[in-house]
Amino acid sequence: MTKKSKLLYEGKAKKLYATDEKNILWVEYLNQTTALNGLRKDLIQGKGELNNQITSLVFEYLRQRGIKHHFVEKISKTEQLIQKLKIIPLEIVLRNVAAGSLSKRLNVEKGTQLSFPIVEFYLKKDLLKDPFINDEHVLMLKIANLEEINLLKKKIRKINEVLIEMFQKAKIKLIDFKLEFGKLPDGPIVLADEISPDTCRLWDEITNEHLDKDVYRYNLGNLVPVYQEVLKRLLTI
Ligand code: TMP
Repeated sequence: MTKKSKLLYEGKAKKLYATDEKNILWVEYLNQTTALNGLRKDLIQGKGELNNQITSLVFEYLRQRGIKHHFVEKISKTEQLIQKLKIIPLEIVLRNVAAGSLSKRLNVEKGTQLSFPIVEFYLKKDLLKDPFINDEHVLMLKIANLEEINLLKKKIRKINEVLIEMFQKAKIKLIDFKLEFGKLPDGPIVLADEISPDTCRLWDEITNEHLDKDVYRYNLGNLVPVYQEVLKRLLTI
């Protein structure tokens, strides 16, 4: 039985602990919910539990489809064990349909199907509010080399295909999502972090109703029943 030890990091939505196993970390999903780079903050009872359950289900599905990632196992309602990685400081976004910051920045109507999946890089740096950067900035900052940039793009496009298929079975359209990747101690780059309605835009297949954190971002109602609906649908696939 793995034992939790000291707190290593407290993020906006998760706490990360060391364990008695060198290469295993312990994650606790929190109820804290933020928007606008942490300017808006609320405690939403039950959210941590829902995101832990949803992320665990999604990562298991990805594992079955041959996608390598950091997830080891869910150990309680709000906790999971993961492999220790050196996180690549990029938030990598893939967009299938225009929404959010893309719609705003480029004036593309929300809901417009993009002609191909668009991959974007954001620098993971709270002080700079996670700015949008391009491949050359990634090279300049020595975050990844060209080969790794191409590999990251290939991986997120493959994950997109699997996630589209998975959410389709739950009658959900995958609009866009954010991923993080990291390097295992022996080198390979694998998927990290979480995949939940906090990090994806998910719309009902028929009504286009938001089944994601936009409900909180845009004050559209109570987030908990919405996340419960996503979980309920994923449990049926
Ligand atoms: P955006 O349209 O606000 O740029 O967001 C694109 C996707 O990335 C959306 O599914 C939400 C997700 N995302 C995060 O997971 N974390 C973040 O900090 C931001 C800004 C977006």
